[in-house]
Amino acid sequence: APLAPFDLVIFGGTGDLALRKLLPALFHRYADGQIVAGTRIVAIARDTQSDEDYRGRVRDALAKFANLDARESQSVEGFLSLLLYRRLDLSSDSGWPEFSAEFAGDERVRVFYLAVGPDLFGVVADRLQSHGLVSPKTRVVVEKPLGKDGVSADAINDALARVFAETQIFRIDHYLGKETVQNLTALRFGNALFEPLWKAEHIDHVQITVAETVGVESRAPYYDKSGALRDMVQNHLLQLLCLVAMEPPSSLAADAIRDEKLKVLRALRPIVNGNAAQSTVRGQYKAGAVDGTAVPGYAQELGAQSLTETFVAIKAEVKNWRWAGVPFYLRTGKRLGERVSEIVVTFRQVPHSIFEDLTDQDPSSRLQPNKLVLRLQPDEGVKLWLMNKVPGPGGLRLRHVPLDMSFAAAFGGRQADAYERLLMDVVRGNPMLFMRRDEVDAAWKWIDPIRAAWAAGAEAPRPYTAGSWGPSAAVALIERDGRTWHEDAG
Ligand code: BG6
Repeated sequence: APLAPFDLVIFGGTGDLALRKLLPALFHRYADGQIVAGTRIVAIARDTQSDEDYRGRVRDALAKFANLDARESQSVEGFLSLLLYRRLDLSSDSGWPEFSAEFAGDERVRVFYLAVGPDLFGVVADRLQSHGLVSPKTRVVVEKPLGKDGVSADAINDALARVFAETQIFRIDHYLGKETVQNLTALRFGNALFEPLWKAEHIDHVQITVAETVGVESRAPYYDKSGALRDMVQNHLLQLLCLVAMEPPSSLAADAIRDEKLKVLRALRPIVNGNAAQSTVRGQYKAGAVDGTAVPGYAQELGAQSLTETFVAIKAEVKNWRWAGVPFYLRTGKRLGERVSEIVVTFRQVPHSIFEDLTDQDPSSRLQPNKLVLRLQPDEGVKLWLMNKVPGPGGLRLRHVPLDMSFAAAFGGRQADAYERLLMDVVRGNPMLFMRRDEVDAAWKWIDPIRAAWAAGAEAPRPYTAGSWGPSAAVALIERDGRTWHEDAG
């Protein structure tokens, strides 16, 4: 349904995130009629340029990043007419009174998107307040990194809390806006089939993989201060783990879900100096080849030696009745062999096999456990691996074959980008897919000791060749437990 006209002000309006993600997402919502005339989208940055200059940049960005089809192309000029550019300096009051005269007021929803470094969140918040731009209908959106550890995250959250109520603060984790991630909730709680089996009694283990082929390239200066643990695990992978592991919420109310996620985070077994060496693996890519193209190593991209990890694998455990003894193996890395994100739930083996004799004749008949595989990207879909009889009169042979649901085949059409859903949720004031402050705190409480243990160990991350699946120690991490990383056999 169309939203009443609103104001969306993007600090960092000429940055990468704005041009690649936010404006294309807003454009699609406009082309679909959800954003209507009268809405103002205001980009803020430090350079001097006119509205027309800025619209020109966005026109180019849409052509590059928005995947326009013929119908949508006709909406481009209409969308551009909603855009305004204003120059504001965050270090002084100059320009702010004029800006406030133009945009203050409490009739319409006003969203401030802080696509700037976290050290500026507090500064912007204070200026918004002192210039009368904060009303009950004002919302603020912040991107990660929300600090670099629990202490700095706390300071950022305190600075925001001085100006905004918690219900006005939207902490984005764009993984929560992905269609396939939301589908996890649909699968678990919209079907009677899974929930009775969703526990240690029937589930052997869970794997969460977010593998990327990209390196860090121009992001190296940011990335080197962060590393895979803080860039991906603290937020995206832990949020996925929460959605898999949480108890059924009583409703879709934002806090009903966030309360359950919080309990999972708080139940994570601490990884500290004593067990970090067995439970974690860090890696850093060296030169190699991805998709047949030679690529440089991390240190080369950064232009310096570094102890920052570009790969991490972790054996996590959720210490509660439902999950006692069920490992959650997490792994993520840059410059891996393939771009694939998936959640794999492996069920327990049948308690007794009546097929032993078959296995003697044909090893491929060996029983394999059922697996539910949620493919988040690419080729979004769900596979449920089952044992089946191989057709033919020549006796009984078995094979592991998936029931296979592809999003593209089942639903067709364009997959909306995560930011489309998330931005519209901010305007509607629905925080369900955003992180509450206590979740962020709990996530850091688990992450900080891992980093402390690594620092105490003073070991360098293990090198892995770009284009591989990470250091061999990550394979050993799971094979020690008699398990293997899931590989899709088709
Ligand atoms: C971001 C990280 O949050 O997520 C990046 O900072 C990473 O390092 C990206 O590449 C991955 O997102 P997606 O949507 O491409 O899986």
